[in-house]
Amino acid sequence: MDRTPTGLHVGLIMDGNGRWAAARGLPRTEGHRRGAAAVRRAVEAAPGLGITTLTLYAFSRDNWRRPPDEVATLMGLMESFLVRERANCRRQGVRLAVIGRRDRLPPGLIRAIEETERATRHGTRLYLRLAVDYSARSAILAAAGALGSAERCDETGFLQRVNRACHSDPETPPVDLVIRTSGEQRLSDFLLFESAYAELVFIDTLWPDFDGEDLRRAIEAFRRRERRFGAVPAEIHPLPDPVAGPSAR
Ligand code: FPP
Repeated sequence: MDRTPTGLHVGLIMDGNGRWAAARGLPRTEGHRRGAAAVRRAVEAAPGLGITTLTLYAFSRDNWRRPPDEVATLMGLMESFLVRERANCRRQGVRLAVIGRRDRLPPGLIRAIEETERATRHGTRLYLRLAVDYSARSAILAAAGALGSAERCDETGFLQRVNRACHSDPETPPVDLVIRTSGEQRLSDFLLFESAYAELVFIDTLWPDFDGEDLRRAIEAFRRRERRFGAVPAEIHPLPDPVAGPSAR
């Protein structure tokens, strides 16, 4: 399950909106508004760089701890993004999905999610996932909780369950590359199971300044990495059974 058969799956932790705004004496919400424009630039650049799945971390489960006006701005920005970009996504062959919990989101945002997912469901050029009220640990726990005690499940099967647990297409492949902007170097509960063998690229650009060139450079850095998946490049031997785990046998 560690090798992506077709295009790349890139996960993007969009960080630095608040610092971008503070550096200009603007409210944090203005950083988020400018951040929404950067989302469009990333989505437009992705297919040309060999990316077929792009997962953007828009709102984590723990972001509910932010001040209510900031949360409301973020919810509003995501809703208007989905409504505004629906036609564009259809035209560009982008299939959009929102992963994470839905039951705590405002009704207008839930409607926008459902309509955009429906309208773009036939897109094949890019699978764009927005992670909203998302927690990787919650998704893993939900997937594990749904497994009957006598059920057998290998890693690929469990990945499908993790995908289902967060409303993603079950066939979404593991992550090849995680990019985080703003100089911070952590995963913040993002795609923890899916990123087991992902390469990590941290860049200093604050998210509102992110553009296609930043994405191109990150992909270039990724292409220079040697991905070994634990093996020695010239000799890839099969895993012995105990490594696959007792449930896989
Ligand atoms: C992190 O920056 C960013 C977020 C928590 C929100 C990301 C949201 C957007 C990019 C805009 C809305 C999204 C869409 C899909 C339209 P931060 O606020 O933590 O920045 P800081 O670390 O500098 O304070």
